[in-house]
Amino acid sequence: MGISGTPEWKALADHHLQVRDAHLRDLFAEDPERGTRFTCRAGDLHLDFSKNRLTGETLRLLAALAERAGLRARTEAMFRGEHINTTEDRAVLHTALRAPRDRVLVVDGQDVTGDVHRVLDRMADFAQRVRNGTWRGHTGEPIRAVVNIGIGGSDLGPAMAYTALRDYSDRSRTFRFVSNIDPTDLAEATRDLDPATTLFIVCSKTFTTQETLANATAARRWLVDGLGGDDNAVAAHFVAVSTNAEKVAEFGIDPANMFEFWDWVGGRYSFTSAIGLSLMVAIGPERYQEMLDGFATIDEHFRTAPWEQNLPALLGLISVWYIDFFRAQTSAVLPYSLYLARFPAYLQQLCMESNGKSVTLDGTPVDVPTGEIVWGEPGTNGQHAFYQLLHQGTHLVPADFLAFAQPHHDLDGMHDLLLANFLAQPAALAFGRTAEEVAADGTDPAVVPHKVMAGNHPSNAIVAPKLTPNVLGQLVAAYEHRVFTQGVVWGINPFDQWGVELGKVLAQQLAPKLQSDTAPTYDADSSTNALVRLLRQLRGR
Ligand code: F6P
Repeated sequence: MGISGTPEWKALADHHLQVRDAHLRDLFAEDPERGTRFTCRAGDLHLDFSKNRLTGETLRLLAALAERAGLRARTEAMFRGEHINTTEDRAVLHTALRAPRDRVLVVDGQDVTGDVHRVLDRMADFAQRVRNGTWRGHTGEPIRAVVNIGIGGSDLGPAMAYTALRDYSDRSRTFRFVSNIDPTDLAEATRDLDPATTLFIVCSKTFTTQETLANATAARRWLVDGLGGDDNAVAAHFVAVSTNAEKVAEFGIDPANMFEFWDWVGGRYSFTSAIGLSLMVAIGPERYQEMLDGFATIDEHFRTAPWEQNLPALLGLISVWYIDFFRAQTSAVLPYSLYLARFPAYLQQLCMESNGKSVTLDGTPVDVPTGEIVWGEPGTNGQHAFYQLLHQGTHLVPADFLAFAQPHHDLDGMHDLLLANFLAQPAALAFGRTAEEVAADGTDPAVVPHKVMAGNHPSNAIVAPKLTPNVLGQLVAAYEHRVFTQGVVWGINPFDQWGVELGKVLAQQLAPKLQSDTAPTYDADSSTNALVRLLRQLRGR
């Protein structure tokens, strides 16, 4: 039986009919304590979910749904290292990457915690040597620039976190992130760097990804050419992060310079594995450990807190409420911190690659809508771009507003202005402005309907004291477990990504056709064939 056939789902569907038209104005008027009652605390994260179109009964029913879906048992199975990624027959153990050193976890006969901390210690040693200048380049100079090469989960985590934690980073060094196979990416990243002082960290779980290998190959050529053609230079300027030692060696990086992780770390869940190496070099091992501790705080909270007081589970269940009962198709993430500029992009992979699925674990089609389209921009820029649609458009877009009480830079009280906007927008979205209120301003009656704000647009507010490494860890872990909660309710596998494979195969087949007339014919459709011809012509081929 699919999830929609369960009594818990049916109870939610009935309940939805009763509450779907309730207005947040009325829900707040009925309960003066709503703004403090519908809140939840986890570590340093404060979640205010009062501006959602739900009641206490909705929460009770969502918690019952979580129980029915087996969220507790699935969570335990994940933390224990059972092979819950069934289509790849793998454990899912990103939580072990931040578990304390003394936690015993043996999975498939392997001491997982021991392995994790052995690599963390190597990373810390390496990061210190780069930071204190004892890791030298081929010509004996210290490293001044670190370029992370990777894509997807091997890029977005460290790139997002480096941007987020820039204020904690070693400002005397340059950090860049190259991901795209567009040669512009590497060219722009290296154009002002000196090969003698540049270190490349090549990150790829599989070490077979086209983009990463192409960029790493071009980077190696740039380095060797820049250092007089000596191939021996590679050893001091390239390190790898991967699960695939064989391919790393094949590429020409000494396995002694490889930082390992394991197949039980999914790409988009790999940020706390050795994939975080460039970030560790940037912020130092101690700050990095603080970040891991933040993750661990939320891991423990998620594992133990009751659903109605469980911050990640609430985020997940409330999103299910909108996606499946209100039929919302997207959700916005709106950080009121420019440091979180890359957070929406990071969440796009985390959420959409995880839960963009249409079959359940047993291979049958899902019977309810699954993963939402995630998008966003930092406030207040978004306010002057797309918020109009949030306020007066026809789509329901649940939004997460994020803010930090303490600024990293407070220029003339600007942080208070930022926070005032963070407070104003969710209030305007929730409560809007009635025709009577607009008319009372003396507005021309013909213009009144254009100025009415219907309100009842839902949002969460997540507040923390300051965007520290520890708080960033808490935030990312909260969203990881939000995604897991959704996946369990929908009965899908959030840990595979078969849907990205076909495009990769076709690109491999199409590349030779762009380069040569005599390439073996790939039997493309008429549209693709015509585009190939056009591109070849425009390139003078
Ligand atoms: O896009 C598919 C994907 O497999 C992601 O899941 C992954 O994060 C990314 O490619 C990069 O993979 P790798 O780390 O193996 O290079």
